[in-house]
Amino acid sequence: MVSVPVIDVGPLIDGRDVDDVAQRIDQACHEVGFFSVVNHGVDPALCARLGRTAHEFFGRPEPEKERIAMVHGGTAWRGWFPLHGELTSGAPDHKEGYYFGRELSSADARVAAGLPLHGPNLWPASPPDLRPTVLEYLNALEQLGQRLTQAISVGLGLGPSTLGDRWFTDPVILLRLFHYPATTVGAPAYGVGEHTDYGFLTMLWQDDTGGLEVHGPDGWVEIPPDPSAFVCNIGDMLDRLTAGKYRSTAHRVRAPESGARVSIPV
Ligand code: OGA
Ligand code: NI
Repeated sequence: MVSVPVIDVGPLIDGRDVDDVAQRIDQACHEVGFFSVVNHGVDPALCARLGRTAHEFFGRPEPEKERIAMVHGGTAWRGWFPLHGELTSGAPDHKEGYYFGRELSSADARVAAGLPLHGPNLWPASPPDLRPTVLEYLNALEQLGQRLTQAISVGLGLGPSTLGDRWFTDPVILLRLFHYPATTVGAPAYGVGEHTDYGFLTMLWQDDTGGLEVHGPDGWVEIPPDPSAFVCNIGDMLDRLTAGKYRSTAHRVRAPESGARVSIPV
């Protein structure tokens, strides 16, 4: 049975032993395409705070959320979509969500030129904490992403900054808040249907509800929820960059039986 390795990245973050972490990540990327990282240096209180703020936001009345709907985000691809508003392979997902990216003003040259995925975020009036918390979280996850990219670069036999210098001096970062309500009769069974991620690397925080499943050689396995970890997975771009040595593995999210789950992929 395939299992998703849990990797202590403390030695990578403090620079004590980059090679050992790089070797573990390399093996995980090749064998499973998924790994969880612990001792990642991101304040767990920040993750919990963003999780709580996300719950608060999703609990706001619909007309308020409509004001920052994705239609207002244009090609920057920002804003809110309602329950069942996003499809995977043509079928509606049992989730609602909110897209963010790096905060760029309309005066930024890339935004002025209409470059897709670049632009200002759409912020809600309430909760007011959402804006500073998302921006702090984006910043923390960008740092972690840069460190993990160094380890991936080393694991591939390149210099520590080779991948980062080539692709991520100005990374495109996509942060989503997802809210998965409990299933109801007749609703879609999956919060997200089976898919692979299209980016380079995804770092996902999930609350303690559970439901994330990965497709291994022996079938579907659940990744046990751990709010002190980030679940990382290879996206199609890194799969392609490595000519398939690293695998962008299929995964999906089972909708919760009760309660509501929040996850934050970056
Ligand atoms: C995704 C994804 C899983 C989750 O956004 O690509 O797989 O737990 N999310 O939200
Ligand atoms: Ni995914």
